[in-house]
Amino acid sequence: MRDVIVACDFGSAAEALAFLDKFAGCERKPFVKIGMELFYGAGPDIVREIKRRGHRIFLDLKLHDIPNTVRKTMKVLSSLDVDMTNVHAAGTVEMMKAALEGLTRPDGTRPLLIAVTQLTSTSEERMKTDLLIDVPIADVIAHYASNACAAGLDGVVCSPLEASVVKAKCGSGFLAVTPGIRFADAAADDQVRITTPARAREIGSDFIVVGRPITAAPDPVAAYLRCVEEFI
Ligand code: C5P
Repeated sequence: MRDVIVACDFGSAAEALAFLDKFAGCERKPFVKIGMELFYGAGPDIVREIKRRGHRIFLDLKLHDIPNTVRKTMKVLSSLDVDMTNVHAAGTVEMMKAALEGLTRPDGTRPLLIAVTQLTSTSEERMKTDLLIDVPIADVIAHYASNACAAGLDGVVCSPLEASVVKAKCGSGFLAVTPGIRFADAAADDQVRITTPARAREIGSDFIVVGRPITAAPDPVAAYLRCVEEFI
């Protein structure tokens, strides 16, 4: 199950496809993350095209709306045949259940559904001052993860450093999908809580989401294979 997901954070379909062309001769087809920037810029056709090329897709749109809207939107995403998608756990257990219903196809199959707990850009201070949530951030993450688990979701997006808290709360089969990955000899960029692919495996990540260490590397295929080698 463990895999490396490459964050295809490009502003246009042309750039994303040119990047993926580099992997044409690679023995392993990367699992690709399509985020808001690429999806809103290029539309659902980019999902169809990357799928047609044989990649698995994590569609990272982080839905957060009333349950009825989320249910109907998930039905649309499910018909795009993505492999994984997500919602904000802050949308409540009812919203997460609605997402799961919408995602489930008539034959009972569905993409993996994971929940965003707290964005890594949100500090404990901001939670307190902006959101009036006055408890330790680790408690919020553990609580949101257990809500996602109760709603029947497959896992959460969290920092690799939080994966063990999530597993302890929700069981080892509950997926930890973790960004914030850097090679030991590389720059952190704007990520704060980072770890290496090897360490992410040791502390329980199921999927690592890796952007710039691969997309900005002089040889993206070599960087991807290095991630695979260290993580899987
Ligand atoms: O370039 P980098 O490896 O930092 O990219 C990480 C990817 O993971 C980006 O697509 C970013 O949007 C995403 N992400 C993150 N932190 C979160 C949730 C998602 O870095 N908490």
